[in-house]
Amino acid sequence: MSNRIAVVPGSFDPPTLGHLDVIGRAARLYDEVHVVVVHNPGKEAMLPIAQRLALLEQSIAESGLDGGNVTVASWSVGLLVDYASDVGAGVLVKGIRSQVDVAYETPMAIVNRNLAGIETVFLLPDPSHALVSSSLVRQVAALGGDVSPYVPGPVARFLDTGDAAR
Ligand code: PNS
Repeated sequence: MSNRIAVVPGSFDPPTLGHLDVIGRAARLYDEVHVVVVHNPGKEAMLPIAQRLALLEQSIAESGLDGGNVTVASWSVGLLVDYASDVGAGVLVKGIRSQVDVAYETPMAIVNRNLAGIETVFLLPDPSHALVSSSLVRQVAALGGDVSPYVPGPVARFLDTGDAAR
């Protein structure tokens, strides 16, 4: 387990510019970054996991973050910390936009540390992304609004074609 290898987990339903900002920051801090799309049973999904994975891959490639140390995968069986130990990661990275995120993430960070000794590092995204969330994007997209200010190009194009379940 290496502290130079990080996992950036999330639902990514859909990926937002805030997610890409955090992935980019993690890629500059760690030798290897594994972005992992995780099924969150507490949330009703808009996109299937395979679609989120494809959109993340396209968004990372288009933003130039695929410089060699960022990989994308999905994980739907078991604990996130098991995925982290499979890839040798000693760190989970999460983006924190507000006190609400701190309250939501803190119990998960403590549980993950108790389960496997894995630390969670919180990164602050650029303030321009502070109000962006996947749930807001889902809502605006479902009602036919323009989500392009909040999501990477591939996600905006995908949602604009009406391919996503509405
Ligand atoms: O983007 P999200 O929905 O806030 O991400 C939450 C997620 C998927 C990272 C979280 O639900 C998670 O870690 N799920 C994996 C299952 C797990 O390991 N649970 C126990 C420790 S929290």
